[in-house]
This record gives sequence, structure tokens and C-alpha cells, in this order.
Amino acid sequence: MKKIIIKGGKRLEGEIDLQGAKNSVLPISAATLLCSKKSTLHNCPNIADVDTSVRILTALGCDCKRENKSLTVDPSNVNGYEIPDNLMREMRSSVVFLGAVLGKFGKAVISSPGGCELGPRPIDLHLSALRKMGVTITEEHGLLYCEAKEGIKGTEIALGFPSVGATENIILAAVLGQGLTVIHNAAKEPEISDLADFLNSAGARIYGGGSDTVYIHGVKKLTSSEHSIIPDRIVAATYMSCAAVTGGSITLNGAMPSHITSVLSVFADSDCDVTVRGKSLRINAKKRLSRVPTIRSLVYPGFPTDAGPLIIAMLCKAKGTSVFVENIFENRFSFVDELKRLGAKIETQGKTAIIEGVENLSGASCKCTDLRGGAALITAGLCAKGETVIDQIHHIERGYDDIVGTLKLVGADIEYTE
Ligand code: UD1
Repeated sequence: MKKIIIKGGKRLEGEIDLQGAKNSVLPISAATLLCSKKSTLHNCPNIADVDTSVRILTALGCDCKRENKSLTVDPSNVNGYEIPDNLMREMRSSVVFLGAVLGKFGKAVISSPGGCELGPRPIDLHLSALRKMGVTITEEHGLLYCEAKEGIKGTEIALGFPSVGATENIILAAVLGQGLTVIHNAAKEPEISDLADFLNSAGARIYGGGSDTVYIHGVKKLTSSEHSIIPDRIVAATYMSCAAVTGGSITLNGAMPSHITSVLSVFADSDCDVTVRGKSLRINAKKRLSRVPTIRSLVYPGFPTDAGPLIIAMLCKAKGTSVFVENIFENRFSFVDELKRLGAKIETQGKTAIIEGVENLSGASCKCTDLRGGAALITAGLCAKGETVIDQIHHIERGYDDIVGTLKLVGADIEYTE
């Protein structure tokens, strides 16, 4: 089993080119299905979740090619509308293929994605919206059979919660549908705007993507597009937390600082110097960080839930006690027990984590419980005294493009080991 081994205490310094956003490339790769011709996605990260997307597209009949950071998808021979169960299980976000397959064929079969490491992650909002759009959904033996016998019909949908995945699925289903679909209380995350930009450049008529009301006028056909994926704001937060805990100084190139305003202010609160120059983001950290005022995860533009574990890891070594309140997912703190193995002092009560900063963490053996929790262990390991060995790193590989190589380039003592 591959593991990551870190000898902590090295100050990070240098420049990092930011990878494309995982949460953008997944729905956009699903969207390529809806086109009639070959599309190319640039700035496509080399991560396991993209591998899974490519396997789903291939299973549905697409011809996919990856070259460096570009993915080309030719959907001209697409013929399948059943998303293979094993691939659904590999990646919960494969649920976003549901909207795309429905939009393409008017029918889809997927397995029910069920719960996962962050707690129950229902798709009731996705399904009730699709039902409103004329889709009949029946569940048998854990499979969802979805069919829009009379085609996808435009309608008004008011989401009870601005779910990212539900907003994406509605857009994907509606784009080739009949008439106008309006989403009220839509998710406003930058990845939604990126999906709308991709679809619009292929001929869609989507207005308001990235705002709380999205208008989708159905069109007859989408052609193709050449599109560059936006930078990954959570990966940006990850490398910034790594620099911060080591008293380091790094520059992130190709960033979109306006996407992480709420995260940047936490770094500033912890006494780091953060400088923004166009698409470059520089962080310069002091030897000892300060505690920060209470952080609450919220929907965009609030503090992103995915950045929570990284900031919690960083605050383990800050001077004083900080509080993090998780408002999006029920079970986001599994990684805390692993951080404690390194000497972190964290107490969790329901959705609140109280982090009492300690002077030093110490290296230990630990294991990833989920993607961002795993990255948080790397952050902690980089500043811990001695050696940290991280197991179950397949979680990290789902979303980080060569995190070991990248951190080595800026001075970390980090390796893969068997
Ligand atoms: C996406 C991101 C994930 C991020 C999350 C919140 C991708 C691939 N994943 O996940 O990294 O953490 O946004 O920013 O883009 N909910 C329901 N019913 C539904 C749908 C959601 O109750 O039908 C609840 C979920 O259980 C959760 C909350 O709404 O508590 C947020 O979920 P959602 O915004 O849908 O997140 P995802 O799209 O799953």
C-alpha cells in the first residue's frame, strides 16, 4: 500500500502553479456528453476523480484522450445511458452525470449514491427538481430508473438549500430541454459559473450562472467548446496552509483570489501577510501563527466547508484557541482523531471544533479518512517534529495533482513509500 512519509520542520519557499478545479472539471466533463462534437478541456488536473469521469464517459461510448493537462472528449458515438454501478460507488459526485445523461437521452439509470465519509449526502433536491421537469423516477434494487417520456420540460424550481450538485444537475438536464427553466436559490459557487461558461460557449443560453437565480433557455443543439478549467480554490487554500504552518513564503501562480476572499481573511487574521497581484497570490507567514476569530462554513461566498480541515490543521499550532463551526456537512470531523495522533488538541462537540494551539506537533502514523481530511494531515505533518506516515492516501489522490512533487519543489521533505 502506497503511503506518504513526511519529515516535518522544513520551511516552504517558492512558487506553485495552481491546478484546475476538481469540482469544475467533473460537471464540465459530464457536460461534454451533451455536445454533438469533440470538446477540449484545458487545465484539467491529473487526479483520480478525473480518471473516474473519463471511465464513465468511455463506458457511455465517448472517445476520450488525455494529453498533459488537456482532456478531449468526442461524444459523437455516445450510446449508453446507464452509469456503471462500480464507477458510481467510486465517486459520489458521479451523480452529476445524471442530469447530463437525462439531457442527452431523456432517460438514465444510476445507482443510488447513498452515504459517504462526510455523513449522509442525500440527493432528494436533485430528484424532486428533475421530477418537476417531467422526469419519472423509480427505485428498484438500489438503482434509480429515470425517464422523461415527453422530454425535459422547462419549469420554475425553488431549491430548499442552494445545493451545488442539484444546481449542476438541473442546468445539465435543462440545457437541451423545452422552454425556460428557472432555478431560484441556486448555488453560487464559482464552479457553477464555470459550467455555465462552458455550456454557453458550446451554444447554450444560460443566464445568471453563479448568482442565486439561474435562467436556462433550452436550445436544440450544443456543438463543442474549447475551455480552460478555473483554478482550484481549495487546493490554493491547501498550499497556503502548508506554507503558513512552516513559517514559509510561497507564491501561487494562476490563482483566482476573488474566489477565496473568505479564506484569505482567515490567513490574514492568523497574522500571515497575504498579497494579491492579478492572478498571483503570495503568502508570507510568521514563525508562530495567531488564533483567529470563530470561523463558520457557509455556502459561497462564505467560508468553504472543504477548506475547514486545512484551516483546523493550521490552527493546531497557532497561539491561543480558535473555534470552527461546520454548517454544511454532518460528519466532517473524522480526521480530527488522526490529527490528535500528532499531538493536536482539538475537542469536537456536534458541529463545533475547538482548537487549542500547541507549541509543537510531533510526527506519528495516521490515516486519511477523506480527501480534505487527508490533506489536513499533510499540513500538520509538515510542521510536526519528526516523521509522519500517512496511510490510505487514495483519498488525497482523488483531488490533488502530484501533491508530493509539488511540495518537494517548495522545499518539503516528503516522499511516497510502500
Ligand atoms: C459539492 C462539492 C463539495 C463541497 C460541497 C459544498 C463537488 C464534486 N463537490 O458537493 O466538494 O463540499 O459542494 O460546497 O462539486 N443536500 C441535501 N439534499 C440534496 C443535496 C444536498 O440535503 O439533494 C445537503 C447535503 O447533504 C449537504 C448540503 O446539502 O449537507 C450541501 O450539499 P451540496 O451543496 O449538494 O454539495 P455537493 O454538490 O454534494
